[in-house]
Amino acid sequence: MTTMPAMPRPAGVRVTGWGRYVPAQVLTNADIERMVDTSDEWIVSRTGIRERRVAAAHETTASMAAVASLRAIRTAGIDADDIDLILLATLTPDYWMPSTAALVKEAIGNTRAAAMDVAAACSGFVYAYATAQAYISSGLAKHVLVIGAELLTRFLDYTDRSTCILFGDGAGAVVLSASDQPGGGLGIEMTTEPAGAYMIWLPAGGAKSPPSAETIARGEHYIRMEGKETYRFATRTLATTALESIRRSGLDPSDIDLFIPHQANIRIIEAVAKGLDLPRDRMFVNLDKYGNTSAASVPIALAEAVNGGRVKIGDHIVIVAFGAGFTSGAVTIEWTAEPARGIAGDASVRAEDVHVRLPVDWDSVDPIPDALAAIMATPGTVDVPLDDVVPGEPEPASATRA
Ligand code: ACO
Repeated sequence: MTTMPAMPRPAGVRVTGWGRYVPAQVLTNADIERMVDTSDEWIVSRTGIRERRVAAAHETTASMAAVASLRAIRTAGIDADDIDLILLATLTPDYWMPSTAALVKEAIGNTRAAAMDVAAACSGFVYAYATAQAYISSGLAKHVLVIGAELLTRFLDYTDRSTCILFGDGAGAVVLSASDQPGGGLGIEMTTEPAGAYMIWLPAGGAKSPPSAETIARGEHYIRMEGKETYRFATRTLATTALESIRRSGLDPSDIDLFIPHQANIRIIEAVAKGLDLPRDRMFVNLDKYGNTSAASVPIALAEAVNGGRVKIGDHIVIVAFGAGFTSGAVTIEWTAEPARGIAGDASVRAEDVHVRLPVDWDSVDPIPDALAAIMATPGTVDVPLDDVVPGEPEPASATRA
C-alpha cells in the first residue's frame, strides 16, 4: 500500500470475493433458559433468534477473521499478496493494540497491505466497505479486503436477560476490486447521531474509566443497552439510510432484488419491509441461526445469500446496518460476480489450517465466561488452532489444541 502509485480511476468497484466463518459451538435458547429468567418463546417472538455461535477458547476475533478472509480471497481468485489494504470492522478487537487487522494480515500471508481496524459498532462493516470503495475509486488501491469480525460472547453479562440473549460470534469478509467495467458499489449513505451515544455502550476499559477491580465489580466491562430506544432508532434509520443510498444510485426501492440488513431483530427487519412497502421475502434473514453478530452480521449474511442462490449477476442489492454511536450505513450494489465461486472458495479453506501467532512469553487467562463454561466443555468440531511460534521458527509438528 505504502509503495503503490496512484492508478487510473476505475469504471467500477466490484465485489470479487466473499467468505464467512462461524464457530462450531451452538448456544440455543434452551441453553440460555438455564442461565437467566427467559424462555425460548419470549426470545423467538421478540427477536426471531433461535440460536447463536460461541467461539471456543482458542479462537479469537483475528482467527475467525482470517478464515473468512482467506475464503474471500480464494473466491476472488487472487493471491493474498494482491491485497493493498485491509480494513477490519469490530467492536471486540483481540487487543487495544495492535489492531486485529494487523494480526489478520500476518495470518493470511500478506506482506504488502496497510492494515487497520474500523470502529463503528454494528455499522462497521458497511463503513469499512464505503472506505474501501473510496480508496479504490480514487486509484489508491486495486484490491481491498473488508472484514467484519466479532467475539461478543466474551463481553456479555449472563445475568442480564435483555442483552445476553441477543449476541453471537462470527466473521465475514469481502474483496473489493477495481474494474474497467461499471457495476459493483453504487450509492453510499452513512450517518452518525451522537445523541444515541450512551444507548449501546461498554462503559469501562477505555481512557475515561480504565479497567480496575472496581469497574469489574460494577460490571462495567459488559455491553449495556437501552433496548427500546435502540429499537426505535433502528426501525427509522434502516429505512431512511437505505432509501438515500438507493436514491444516490439513481434507482427506486422496487428496483432492489434483495436487502441484506444488519441481523439484530426480526421485528426491526419486518418493520423496515413494511415501511418501504416491500414484500418480506425481499429481506434476507439468518438471525435465527446466529443472533446479532454486530459488524460480522452483514458480511456473513451477504455470503450466505449469494452462496444460497438468492443473488444473481445483474441483481441490485442493498447492504444496510445500524449500531452504537448511533451509526448507520447503506451501500447499493450491482452484483457482478459468479455466485458459484463462493461455495468453492469456502470449501478451499479449512479453519484448522489457519494460524494466528501469539507471543511466546504470554498466555491469556481462560477467556470463556463462567456462565458458558459447561456448554464449552463439550466443544464442537471446527477448530482454528493458534500458533505460538515467533517468526523464523519452524512450525510446531501439531498446533491443534483441544
Ligand atoms: N426474557 C423474558 N423477558 C424479558 C427478557 C428476556 N430475555 N428481556 C426483557 N424482558 C422483559 C422486560 O424485563 C420487560 O418486563 P417488564 O414489562 O416486567 O418490565 C418486558 O420483557 C418487556 O421488555 P422490553 O424491553 O419492552 O422488550 P422489547 O419488546 O422492547 O424487546 C429487545 C427487547 C429484544 C432488546 C428489543 O428492544 C430490541 O431488539 N431492541 C433493539 C436492540 C438492538 O437491535 N441492539 C443492537 C444494537 S447494534 C450494536 O451496535 C451492538
